[in-house]
Amino acid sequence: MCGIVGYVGDRSCTDVLLDALEKLEYRGYDSAGIAVIEQGVIKVEKCKGRLANLRDKMAFDGKPEGHVGIGHTRWATHGEPSDINSHPHGNKRVTVVHNGIIENYRQIKEFLISEGYSFVSETDTETVAKLLDYYYTGDPVDTIIKSLAEIKGSYALGVMFRDFPDRIFAVRKDSPLIVGKGDHENFIASDVPAIMKYTRDYYLLDTNEIAVIKKDDVTFYNIHREQLYKSVHTADWDVDAAEKGGYEHFMLKEINEQPNAVKTTITPRISDSMPDFTAEGFDAAKLGAYNKIFIVACGTAMHAGMVGKYVIERLARIPVIVDIASEFRYRDPLIDERDLMIVISQSGETADTKAALELAKSRGADTMAVVNVKGSSIAREADMVVYTHAGPEISVASTKAYMVQISVMYLLAFELAYGVGRISKEQCQKLTEELQEIPDVIQEAIGLENHCQYVASKLVNADSLLYIGRGLDYALSMEGSLKLKEISYIHSESYAAGELKHGTISLITENMPVIAVATQSDLVDKTISNIKEVKARGAMVILVCGKEVVVEDGVADHIIRLPEVDQMLMPMVAAVPLQLIAYYTAVLKGNDVDKPRNLAKSVTVE
Ligand code: AGP
Repeated sequence: MCGIVGYVGDRSCTDVLLDALEKLEYRGYDSAGIAVIEQGVIKVEKCKGRLANLRDKMAFDGKPEGHVGIGHTRWATHGEPSDINSHPHGNKRVTVVHNGIIENYRQIKEFLISEGYSFVSETDTETVAKLLDYYYTGDPVDTIIKSLAEIKGSYALGVMFRDFPDRIFAVRKDSPLIVGKGDHENFIASDVPAIMKYTRDYYLLDTNEIAVIKKDDVTFYNIHREQLYKSVHTADWDVDAAEKGGYEHFMLKEINEQPNAVKTTITPRISDSMPDFTAEGFDAAKLGAYNKIFIVACGTAMHAGMVGKYVIERLARIPVIVDIASEFRYRDPLIDERDLMIVISQSGETADTKAALELAKSRGADTMAVVNVKGSSIAREADMVVYTHAGPEISVASTKAYMVQISVMYLLAFELAYGVGRISKEQCQKLTEELQEIPDVIQEAIGLENHCQYVASKLVNADSLLYIGRGLDYALSMEGSLKLKEISYIHSESYAAGELKHGTISLITENMPVIAVATQSDLVDKTISNIKEVKARGAMVILVCGKEVVVEDGVADHIIRLPEVDQMLMPMVAAVPLQLIAYYTAVLKGNDVDKPRNLAKSVTVE
């Protein structure tokens, strides 16, 4: 989604803005632009395409020289990616960058046209800029407050007024924005990595709060114009965590960071070999008292929830309903005050997940967020928060966030199962100790890299693939399939292996490779039968299974043998080769692995 940055200080504003926008590239974008106050005039440079295009354009036009400015990477929603639709938008007096969607922009636009304004772009953002101009009173905060009263939707805005050349303004509702606090310089940004090179200190801006950012101070107001006093947060990771560190892509770096990410996530939640969530404010007794559990999320995070469902139901025998957030929020779900809603989100800003959380709260359910980004909207809204400690995940394709989300699912399942008396303390300790061993096993699975690279070379020319599995293996297949399609652009589906013959097997030909996951001993024979069915119809089969599984000759074309571990924990191990296969297939295709087309890292619109 769109990225916003802003700077006030002594450095070259253009350089800082471009540098910060580069750090937000991972969010996904199709055009970029900046506005800088140069000798009292707002100078705008923007164009379609990558930041490199903007740099080229400025090399030709001349780089804006100044110390105060705002910048933007746009992920198109209203109007195609084009030079005109790129942000910033505005006129000589006010200019705006925006992330989010203005729902009533048509009405505002019609009103402004009737007042004599004209529009050049198809964007909703231009209406905000012109509305600010319309309400301009000479007092920017007053003007912003008046304008916000007219706007419906979600937004993070960076604003500059020509008459106030020493400052920028920031305001947000439901879209992320932070204010970076430097030494005689201050920033705004959609996400912390944008400003890490300059400062690790930042303020969280809440919905309907306005920040006035000058070189030496930042002032916050609510929409009643009362001044607010906010505490400073400090990012607990360093700039290296947001750099590639010698890896060719962030995705590969993040796959390699998984053992440590899991260790860092689970270790603080284990004491005496038992899960311990007292720091998060809940315990086994509290968890065990819920009637049913909803796990709601999007994409990869939802797939982590699928693993959670299998494990919680198997161990604790509590019903778990997993839902895609965008479906949950519109299907009048049967959730009430006896239920627990767990939302899972790397970014903590996903619009649909946040809306689902709000719906659950409005129905009286308790809510728990499993979130990676500290202080994110979802983390702030949930009743209970379990932070995953993956560090910044830059690659759009989620890997380490998925892994830590699953690790939390396991710990919660153990805690729950113990809480409801389904497992003894000794059993719970044994499971928890096995989970503690997992980082080393993930490391071992990363050692399958060359094998995965070879498999990728066999898949790279495929047009379509199937991932199959049963039970936990099916849950994992969903993630394997998503990973492949989002970065390699090869179509793929995940299918419950037993369901194939009810229709989908008609797709199988020698041109449809099948990746089968078979790690669950009680299901492995059945999955192998399904593999034989597709093999008999010509499919090339890649089998991912445990070391001990007996596979007759000719059943699979390639077998990836996983290091041994308790089979319930297998998804954490089997995920690694699936990630690596997707990664190397995308590399072989020459794709932009970390920034796949059309995708955004943080989906802050519906
Ligand atoms: C996964 O590779 C994707 N980037 C995507 O499915 C992602 O998991 C989804 O958009 C949810 O994001 P969140 O975890 O930040 O809420």
